[in-house]
Formats: sequence, C-alpha cells, structure tokens
Amino acid sequence: MQLKDKVAIVTGAGQGIGAAVAQAYAAEGARVAVIDMNLDAASAVAEGIRAAGGQAMAVACDVAQRAQVDAMAAQVTLAWGRVDILVNNAGITRTAMLHKMTSEQWQAVLGVHLTGSFNCLQAVVDGMIERRYGRIIFVTSAAGILGTVGQINYSVAKAGILGMTKSCARELARHNITANAIAPGAATPMTETIRTDERFKEKYLDRIALGRWAQPEEITPVFVFFASDASSYVTGQILAADGGMTIH
Ligand SMILES: NC(=O)c1ccc[n+]([C@@H]2O[C@H](COP(=O)([O-])OP(=O)(O)OC[C@H]3O[C@@H](n4cnc5c(N)ncnc54)[C@H](O)[C@@H]3O)[C@@H](O)[C@H]2O)c1
Repeated sequence: MQLKDKVAIVTGAGQGIGAAVAQAYAAEGARVAVIDMNLDAASAVAEGIRAAGGQAMAVACDVAQRAQVDAMAAQVTLAWGRVDILVNNAGITRTAMLHKMTSEQWQAVLGVHLTGSFNCLQAVVDGMIERRYGRIIFVTSAAGILGTVGQINYSVAKAGILGMTKSCARELARHNITANAIAPGAATPMTETIRTDERFKEKYLDRIALGRWAQPEEITPVFVFFASDASSYVTGQILAADGGMTIH
C-alpha cells in the first residue's frame, strides 16, 4: 500500500475524477476526506469507500468560500490529526465565446479553480510546514496549456494553476513539501459534449495521439504517484495524462 495511514483531502470528489482519486487513495491505505459542495454525492462516495473496507469521511464545502474551507480543514484535522495530501480537483465550466461571456461566468470559474485551490492550500499548508511533510496536487487541463475556444475563463484558470503549482513548489521545497499538477484527458461528464457531439468529437480525437478517450482508471495512477513517496524527488512538474494531446 503506497499511502498507508496518510490523510488526504480530495476536493470535488463527489463524482468524476475526484471520486475515482478518492477511491484509489483509500485502496492504497489512505484516510480520505471526500470534499464536495454536493454533500449527498460526497456521502455516497465516502460510503462506497467504507463499504469496500477503506476509511473515508464526507464533508460539504464550497472551496471558493474561505470560511467553509477553513472549517472543513479543521474538521479533518480534528478527526485524523493532520493533512498529508491535498488534491485541488474541484472544478466547473461556464462556456461562452469571449465576446459573450458574462462577468458572472468569468468570476465563477476563476473563483472555484484559482481562489478555491488557493483557499485549500492556505488552510492546510501551515500544518504541513510544521510537520515537514506534504504532497500538494493541482489539477490543470490541456485548455490551460494549449488554450481553447469558448472557455477563456477555464483556460485562464487552468493556466493560472500552472503558475500556482510552480510557485508553490519553489516556496515549499525547503519544507519537504512537493507540489505538482496533473492535466487529465477527457474522461468524465464534464467533457461529455466534446466526446459525444458530432460537431466536436472527431476534431478532438484527431488531436489525441493515442486516438481514444481516457478511462478514469488510466488517470488515477498518476494521482497516486504524486501523493506517494515514489515521487519524493519530483516537484513543480506538470504531467499530462491525456493520451498525447499536449505533445509539444
Ligand atoms: N473531465 C475531464 O476530461 C477533465 C479534463 C481536464 C481537466 N479536468 C479537471 O479535472 C477536475 C475534475 O473534473 P471532472 O471531470 O471530474 O468534473 P465533474 O464535473 O465530474 O466533477 C466536479 C466535482 O466538483 C464539485 N464542485 C464544483 N464546484 C465546487 C466547489 N466550489 N466546491 C466544492 N466542490 C465543487 C462538483 O459538485 C462535482 O462533484 C476539474 O478541475 C476539471 O477542470 C477534467
């Protein structure tokens, strides 16, 4: 077991990639805080982990709201004593061409991805510094690396996460804390339109070197790697588990 007795927070873990990561971490022996603004979804994931013999708790939290994040981190620390691993996975899209994008759409996406990741980082980093141990994992996207059409807010947020990852890695290395980012390939409901709509499907598939969509279980091993001691000498890196979409 690669994460035996580690305590992990996974945000946006009520479904999709976050849920798969929470399950994978629990299977590797971690105690997992399943964080989502949708408590029913988070509770179902935590219950599934417990039914499979793992340890999990569900906590409702909107990562964009600092007070909720602080309360969530305090609850996890009270229950399990510390936080070793933070996965900043919660995300949303608000799609519109840039000349039509509303200020609300712009702010909402930056609020969840950028402010949300920063809030969670600040809520756990003091404890990691004190204990001289931490694994911070950000989630970016091909959109942040290559740019995209109709999602300038998302692209900017995901590009910002690259800067956050690198700054975090540089600042926290002296405390034995690593920070890395993963750019997952399209695998979950968030990308259903591009995977199923005939207008986009072929165009996107053409850009994936391996020529097929990802399975969630092809992405979770990368999250386990960055959370485990196998990556102790890896920090500030962006790993695209995207079938070769972002070869450059
Ligand atoms: N799906 C993909 O193909 C893909 C590709 C590249 C990057 N990503 C990124 O991976 C991450 C997960 O994507 P997914 O496809 O699993 O998404 P998803 O929409 O399936 O799940 C996202 C989860 O985050 C939760 N959430 C949303 N806003 C929140 C908030 N403010 N606070 C707490 N929880 C919140 C939702 O309730 C949901 O359960 C996101 O950061 C996304 O941008 C996804």
